[in-house]
Amino acid sequence: MESDIKTVISVCMGSSCFSRGNNESIELIKKYISDYNLSERVILKGNLCHANCSLGPNMSIGDNMYQGILPENIYDIMKSAFPSERKE
Ligand code: FES
Repeated sequence: MESDIKTVISVCMGSSCFSRGNNESIELIKKYISDYNLSERVILKGNLCHANCSLGPNMSIGDNMYQGILPENIYDIMKSAFPSERKE
């Protein structure tokens, strides 16, 4: 039986993280969710600044925190977080 529990992807939309790459990264995450049919498994949300700007841009997937992420890292991060999903 499939679990109904969804994984929360939370992307910092505070001004520092947003302007240093999360503005692009969130669009790439949306595209990945669509391309890999993850919409039933994840909840994508933005969060406000958590005062970790110096380590940013920041995001989390479930309990895993990712810091210093760049748009070019998104594919690898998503692939490692959801390894069994295949592009349709
Ligand atoms: S703007 Fe992201 S932690 Fe401050």
